[in-house]
Amino acid sequence: MVADETLVLGIETSCDETAVGVVTGGRRILADVVLSQIDEHRPYGGIVPEIAARAHVEHLDRLIAEALATAELGFDELDAIAATAGPGLIGGLLVGLATAKAIAAATGKPLVAVNHLEGHALSARLGSDLDFPYLLALLSGGHCQLLIVEGVGRYVRLGTTIDDAVGEAFDKTAKLLDLGYPGGPAVELAAAAGDGAKYPLPRPMRGREGCNFSFSGLKTAVRNLLEKEANARPKDVAASFQAAVADVLADRTTHAISIARRRRPEIDSLVVAGGVAANRAIRERLAEVAGAVGLALVAPPPALCTDNGAMIAWAGLERLRLGLTDPFETAARARWPLDPDAAPAPFAGAKA
Ligand code: KG4
Ligand code: ZN
Repeated sequence: MVADETLVLGIETSCDETAVGVVTGGRRILADVVLSQIDEHRPYGGIVPEIAARAHVEHLDRLIAEALATAELGFDELDAIAATAGPGLIGGLLVGLATAKAIAAATGKPLVAVNHLEGHALSARLGSDLDFPYLLALLSGGHCQLLIVEGVGRYVRLGTTIDDAVGEAFDKTAKLLDLGYPGGPAVELAAAAGDGAKYPLPRPMRGREGCNFSFSGLKTAVRNLLEKEANARPKDVAASFQAAVADVLADRTTHAISIARRRRPEIDSLVVAGGVAANRAIRERLAEVAGAVGLALVAPPPALCTDNGAMIAWAGLERLRLGLTDPFETAARARWPLDPDAAPAPFAGAKA
């Protein structure tokens, strides 16, 4: 069989990473450059949209040149230009999408406007020959959802968060514990040396019907605990927090598996994606959940879990194969749900 050498460049600027990737239809990653803006946002303890947009403008052209040099390719050799068009911070999205349009216009190559969440959702297919349909736990800083992935562009959302996303809960807990920013990796590191049974934190939504999540009460419980016990060791609090999150994710995912299998009995894989899927304890816990009911856990390597350009290039390539290219009038969208038919999350302020 001849390898599919379709070549797509992908641009990711939806949040605080400026990232560019080049992938082939044969699942090879030819370039994957990621510039984190962590240092620029650190003084503020979180992402400042204006600073993010400006940093994307400053660095994107150079990163595209770097990615093409690494891949040893010129623009003319590409088959399409993909960019994240939403959801995310609108300033950054505009920078990435406008740049992709300019390249596409100058080279005559097709443009593919990619949903960032679809980038995460399909990233597991870049690393392995995973077939549709599969169950996806999308666990990131902006989103926390359980979805059936029926195919490219076809998603059935089974549950979402009614308040904070799981990565947001990690980031806020890290802030409360003074562990620095970004919080997820810092909490994981601290938790590895702590006692997860030390503090019995709440497990919001555990045992409830359906597959929705809620994390704001857990964050408040951590704050209350720290106010009450000034001498609590951060590593024990981090471990107790992580244990609570793992319990909630395990419970919600177990529910989702039974709902998903009723709808699509052929589902044999649970895929985890998004930045929080880089967390080893959480991956291990979800592997247990999947294994207990005969599902395989598919987790992309950590570098493909956190935001990157390769996953956008790959989603662009999957869309290109189906003829799903986009006109230059395509607008960036701050909100863009994967499953537009899903019932809205119960409370205002919930994520798309
Ligand atoms: O997917 P991602 O890079 O960006 C979004 O689309 O949101 O996810 C970033 C989130 C952040 O909240 C970060 O703290 C969290 O993923 N994260 C982690 C870990 N690495 C990143 N959370 C827990 N453990 C980790 N090792
Ligand atoms: Zn993301």
